[in-house]
Amino acid sequence: MPQLSLPKDSSLMAKNFTYGVATASFQIEGGVADRLPCIWDTFCNTDGKIADKSNGDVACDHYNRWLQDVDLIESLGVDAYRLSISWPRVMDKRGQLNDRGVQFYIDILDELNKRNIKPFVTLYHWDLPQHLEDKGGWLNRNTAYEFANYVHLISKAFATKVYSYATLNEPFCSAYLGYEVGVHAPGVVGREFGRKAAHHLLLAHGLAMQVLEKNSPNTLNGLVLNFTPCYSASQNEDDLTATAFADDYLNQWYLKPVIDGEYPAIMQQLPSAHRPEIMPGDMEIISHPLDYLGVNFYTRLRYQASATDYYHELPHQGPVTDIGWEIYPQGLSDLLISLDSKYSLPPIYITENGAAMADVFENNQVNDLNRVEYYQQHLLAVHDAAEHGVNIQGYFAWSLMDNFEWAEGYLKRFGIVHVDYDTQVRTIKASGHAYSALIKSR
Ligand code: FCB
Repeated sequence: MPQLSLPKDSSLMAKNFTYGVATASFQIEGGVADRLPCIWDTFCNTDGKIADKSNGDVACDHYNRWLQDVDLIESLGVDAYRLSISWPRVMDKRGQLNDRGVQFYIDILDELNKRNIKPFVTLYHWDLPQHLEDKGGWLNRNTAYEFANYVHLISKAFATKVYSYATLNEPFCSAYLGYEVGVHAPGVVGREFGRKAAHHLLLAHGLAMQVLEKNSPNTLNGLVLNFTPCYSASQNEDDLTATAFADDYLNQWYLKPVIDGEYPAIMQQLPSAHRPEIMPGDMEIISHPLDYLGVNFYTRLRYQASATDYYHELPHQGPVTDIGWEIYPQGLSDLLISLDSKYSLPPIYITENGAAMADVFENNQVNDLNRVEYYQQHLLAVHDAAEHGVNIQGYFAWSLMDNFEWAEGYLKRFGIVHVDYDTQVRTIKASGHAYSALIKSR
């Protein structure tokens, strides 16, 4: 049996370091008949958007199998489970709670608490109700206020059942992939849209932080951001400048306003039609203090200067995972150390890290040694950053189980548990056993 190991005296081996597994509603639940349509339903029904033409109608059928899945989570011995709430399941079109949907999550939260598994609840992991998209979605400032209303009602309903809230998961993906390059739902394309959507998402985050401070002062309330650190292809000055621009445009854009209350200075270089519409008071709302920052990390990218654009992104190189992303664990320690030096940050949780691998299911097992190796290297990278003084409190594997990987459909498997989509049988992979053994060995 392959193993994961860390130095005995590592802060990652302390009992109070939180280990968890993560999922998201649209990627696992299914149960579409019991909720409103969301932008990902529509996107899946649009030709050419999803690699295997699939959708989230059944996914892992977690909607019906959630209790067994909680058993599975418990069997792994993790301290925490990061799940997301489907906004279109818990709210109706008038902006009121849908009791049946709320009860679905209350039952899960109660079971988790019974078993001493801390619920880390993400309030938005990309499944915007379609009726709000029909009114402009994240390009409509009012969506931020709709979100705050939803967060108000749901946090009241959950009362004391939650350990930690994240307002948004990866606003970069919602804004840039969804409203600028259009490879994610709702598939809007244009530089005049991305920053506007991002601003409304960040406003939604800030408004939700205010709501949580009132309704849920005892939970850890924060934001989950993804980072793909930018490395320059050379030490040539033009390449370095282009790389710094890319980093501000793709990564820091979502953190600097939250911590420092202002967008990166490159905003001045954007044509005014591409800039966000900032109203008086917005930046104060957006920079509401966080109890923690969630960091999601998978890979890095390399950049060069471009004759026609702000930067030129090079294709992934070297060892890559099954989704084509370079395996570069040092990128994670570099990232954590640089964030820590640039900003005055709250405690950090690694809220997602993991790898898609072309798993082979054989004799009722999946011997995913390459994924075990990925986790080993990345846990060591987190350890390294902690040794450098970065305050890191937890780590979540993405994902608990194989699931609907957005534009890739079911073709890419990120789970530490294998899912047979024909039978819905779950099988813990070698990586799941190794992760569990590491956690239990503390
Ligand atoms: C992240 C998403 C998550 C998952 C991983 C692979 O960007 O938050 O839902 O799809 O990528």
